[in-house]
Amino acid sequence: MTGRPKILVTQKVPDPAYPLLAEIGEVDANMQEGSIWPYEELLHRGPNHDYIYSLLTDNIDVHFLEACAAGTPRLKMVANMAVGYNNIDVDAATRLGIAVSNTPGVLSDTTADLAFALLMATARRIPEAERYLRAGKYKGWGPLLFCGAEVHNATVGLIGAGRIGKIVAKRASGFDMKVLYYDVYRMSSEDEATYQMTYLPMDDVLKQADFISIHTPYMPSTHHLIGEREFGLMKPSAILINTARGPIVDEKALVKALQAGTIAGAGLDVFENEPAVEPELLTMENVVILPHIASASLKTRTLMATMASDNIVAHYHGQRPPNIVNPEVLG
Ligand code: GLV
Repeated sequence: MTGRPKILVTQKVPDPAYPLLAEIGEVDANMQEGSIWPYEELLHRGPNHDYIYSLLTDNIDVHFLEACAAGTPRLKMVANMAVGYNNIDVDAATRLGIAVSNTPGVLSDTTADLAFALLMATARRIPEAERYLRAGKYKGWGPLLFCGAEVHNATVGLIGAGRIGKIVAKRASGFDMKVLYYDVYRMSSEDEATYQMTYLPMDDVLKQADFISIHTPYMPSTHHLIGEREFGLMKPSAILINTARGPIVDEKALVKALQAGTIAGAGLDVFENEPAVEPELLTMENVVILPHIASASLKTRTLMATMASDNIVAHYHGQRPPNIVNPEVLG
């Protein structure tokens, strides 16, 4: 590439990401913390950059990519600061010769920590009990006060056993839990022994687990993977944990399952139409809800932010970006 590239950063990200970019190019960044550009603004600002440093809140669709491919300079790469990249039409990017990268690995432990925190918070009714105490309702220790579900010795069923799922299994084994899993890719028997994970078809995992925790990527084949039929297979005492992507779960079916007592509770970090949440979920005491913070430790977010910059810098230097998701564009 001749000259300094133009780089657009769409949201305020951890500081160490910027000097890496400024060393190679002209950085045009949204520096207002918490500001998320609506689609129209993104469409207005996006074209005429070599690189776009994107976040999950950016809808990088075919229309946007075509506009950026027609710009001067032409868009070369979208570097998403996230492991998931379902906000990007990767097929369209590939067709247009635009590289896409993500930030895998560095957030796996932190995300698994939060999945486990949600599991414990939901099982032991921690937010509900805290709300009760803060409301001045606590009159003294009670034998039946906030009795919840036991975590140790329980069975957790993982839907998806990639990097994050395996670490959740490790956390679970520390609590003497039995770990079942379903994944389209079955692990080797050595790995199953190492992680102490037992493979079962998905329906059997759903039938046997006390806690069902989702760790698959979101793609057409996982859209509404968990819906009315699947809730019907679960135990009435089951608790669903989702730190993956909202649309993997049919959120309306989840509301019905919770209302009908088909399952006992849910711990959710992600929602089908973020930032919107099905209004009934906001009022249910047996639901713990968080604003998509699974990877939110400053250390992890800083690693993700620098990784996204590193991907851009590598591409600029003519190297293969370490976390490219569509390597075919590199020829
Ligand atoms: C967060 O949800 C991510 O995909 O990194």
